[in-house]
Amino acid sequence: MNEQTFSADWLSLREPFDDAARTRAWPSLAPLALGQAADDRRIVDLAAGTGANLRFLAPRLGGNQRWRLVDHDPVLLISARRQLTDWALRRGARVSSDDQQGLTIDAATFKLHAEFVPLDLAAVEPLVAIGDATLVTASALIDLVSVTWLQRWIDACARTGTDVAFALNCAGHAHWRPADEDDVAVARAFSAHHRTNKGFGPAIGPEAADLAAQRLAAAGYTVATADSHWSIDAPSTAMLQAMVDGHARAATEMSDSPEVISRWRGRRQADIEAGRLALVVGHRDLWASADRSAIRRSG
Ligand SMILES: C[S@@+](CC[C@H](N)C(=O)[O-])C[C@H]1O[C@@H](n2cnc3c(N)ncnc32)[C@H](O)[C@@H]1O
Repeated sequence: MNEQTFSADWLSLREPFDDAARTRAWPSLAPLALGQAADDRRIVDLAAGTGANLRFLAPRLGGNQRWRLVDHDPVLLISARRQLTDWALRRGARVSSDDQQGLTIDAATFKLHAEFVPLDLAAVEPLVAIGDATLVTASALIDLVSVTWLQRWIDACARTGTDVAFALNCAGHAHWRPADEDDVAVARAFSAHHRTNKGFGPAIGPEAADLAAQRLAAAGYTVATADSHWSIDAPSTAMLQAMVDGHARAATEMSDSPEVISRWRGRRQADIEAGRLALVVGHRDLWASADRSAIRRSG
């Protein structure tokens, strides 16, 4: 995948929008997420970036948690450690580190240990990465992986009786306001780019959450899904700029008419500067609870 796309700056820019979107979706997922009141969760966060998924989930899950944050980018993992420390201190939690560079965060409603694991998720054997986890989670990942990759992980989670939570799966549609005559052309080219190989084989793209929900249900999981759309209003100019630039860049790579995309970008730039652009981007969150009586964990 393109390192540039996943810089710590980009992940910081999107985190408040992710947080707001997930907060809206959470009431639909919480009954399943909190249903099997586990006080000792062991969580693997796939493609953890700077730790935003932990920052969202840890206070909501409560109790004792052990996190393994996995990413292939060691720079992001260093940033994750720093950002989690700052976040915990802002919440008034006690923070300490251990010899292995892990973090312990002792907050009012949860206590967690986090370790940071550099790993290429395109290459690792899922059962090895899952280990003794009770929850496998990922945010902003599943639309970028292939059907084959997703199925291998679902099979491994089902085999070990591990719960699954996939958040912020991009569902494709971008609804720009005001509308522009070339939004459709940009969307078509952007969507083609979305499905290109991001390192895990041809990417599933916008159907990822629904496909994962179907495959998890077929594997015996109880599944809940909820929309987690980004809503980006006119004052959020930095995010709008990133979205216009990102759409234009991806669409230009795929379009037969780059001049159409270039003119679209120019008009959207003017919309941002006039403070009249707003955008909704479709996302979908998913929580899947394993049937513990069917655990086939060996040994
Ligand atoms: C869209 S970002 C999401 C980061 C984080 N989960 C969040 O929600 O902010 C995608 C992440 O996937 C990671 N990634 C991409 N390819 C990977 C691979 N082959 N193995 C492990 N991590 C990978 C990137 O480094 C990046 O952190």
